[in-house]
Amino acid sequence: MNHEIKFHSRPSVPVELHKVRVVQKLHLKPIDERLKAIREGGFNTFLLNTKDIFLDMLTDSGTNAMSDNQIASMLQADDAYSGSQSFYRMEEALREVFGKHYVLPVHQGRAAENVISQVFVNEGDVIPMNYHFTTTKAHLEINGGTVLEIYTDEALKIKSTNPFKGNMDIQRLKDVIAKYGKEHVPFIRMEASTNLIGGQPYSMQNMKDVKAIADEHGIMIVLDASLIGENAYFIKKREEAYKDASIKDILNEMCAMSDIVYFSSRKVSSTRGGGIVTDSEELMLKMRDLIPLYEGFMTYGGMSVREIEAMAVGLRETLDETVIGQSPSFIEYAVNECDNMGIPVVMPAGALGCHIDALQFLPHVSQLDYSAGALAAALFIVSGCRGMERGTISMDRDAEGNDVASDMELLRLAFPRRVFTLSQTNFLLDRLKWLHENRELIGGLKFVEEPAVLRFFMGRLDAVSDWPEKLVAKFKEDFGDSL
Ligand code: F0G
Repeated sequence: MNHEIKFHSRPSVPVELHKVRVVQKLHLKPIDERLKAIREGGFNTFLLNTKDIFLDMLTDSGTNAMSDNQIASMLQADDAYSGSQSFYRMEEALREVFGKHYVLPVHQGRAAENVISQVFVNEGDVIPMNYHFTTTKAHLEINGGTVLEIYTDEALKIKSTNPFKGNMDIQRLKDVIAKYGKEHVPFIRMEASTNLIGGQPYSMQNMKDVKAIADEHGIMIVLDASLIGENAYFIKKREEAYKDASIKDILNEMCAMSDIVYFSSRKVSSTRGGGIVTDSEELMLKMRDLIPLYEGFMTYGGMSVREIEAMAVGLRETLDETVIGQSPSFIEYAVNECDNMGIPVVMPAGALGCHIDALQFLPHVSQLDYSAGALAAALFIVSGCRGMERGTISMDRDAEGNDVASDMELLRLAFPRRVFTLSQTNFLLDRLKWLHENRELIGGLKFVEEPAVLRFFMGRLDAVSDWPEKLVAKFKEDFGDSL
């Protein structure tokens, strides 16, 4: 909720502190067409075409609304293979916002993960982190590393009042270093606004504690800053000592405690692209040669110069609380409404999206029948809203070929920055409520085509029964021919 604006005669709702100047027509198709679309997409929301989607809440990656100033900056882009002025403007913005000197451009976040993993991770290494992200884990493992998640007992609780569920457990971190030996820990990874556990932030105090342990053992800290703006916003809102600090000071302090900071600028700067920044010339030189090999020359890193210009502007705009706070305020609204309606949702509200707990929503569907995936498909059928499965489908099988039940079985409904309106949000909430009331109609899914790595992207599934048809029939009974 935007606490700064109080209402006089009605309950407060988040108020948009921007106006809409470019619009895109959306398509809310009849339910039979939605069912056909999800069937054709193998019951995988990644495989839908946006021509069939009403509210695209798959992700905030590359889908945040850009500002007028970002679009304007694209016109001054300097097309050059090397030495583009656009790059130097972006480098300047990164130095200002993250406070780090050396900049290695990459085409998106996972490309940074590839470079960092190849350079620093060796066979048998372990990498402690507050929680993994899908692409991060895949890159670390391909290079012989093992991910160790060092979260606190609160992290996986669906309903909690802990403001910092993304914190690392300090005692467990000490234990892990003692157990494996610091020589097998190439770095500690902190992820801002921990994505897979519901966009949950960590506190500055926690990062200070992690830093103290890292320093004691001479271990580097690598910060995944893809969602750092929101984490900084939550630190300001939820951590007493920082209530008067500026977002910039908070960002600088978070980055100052990290040896390497990498990010997906598809998220942090509302553009497309990514980067790695560090103050250490030695670390920069270790990574530098991989940039022209995998990404492109050092002054574009696989990105369009137009995006690089917009990135510079977008990075500075993340310092504006009305920009960085918009998505969290809508998420908080949606989360509180869900909670009031008895819909199980990750609390407290975090960054990125509203995360529905499929285990409680669909207690009759086993996790190994992919309950979060089934819920994502069902929500699309009844609303045209596309969310993302963040559960067992998003885990790959273990070495023996067994399914690995995820720690949390979530349907993520992303709120890209400044994209959706409150009435659209209310439509989503209404359809969620109807789906919750009719949840016993939803059944499971099974794989039809299953890739070995990151299967959630391209895998195709089918319903285990005719539950989608039954769901459609009940929808028509209740809604008539309403869309
Ligand atoms: N790290 C985090 C925390 C992320 O959320 C993402 C992407 C990446 C790294 C990889 O960045 O996509 O630019 O290669 N998250 C997107 C999402 C895909 O939908 O949450 P990328």
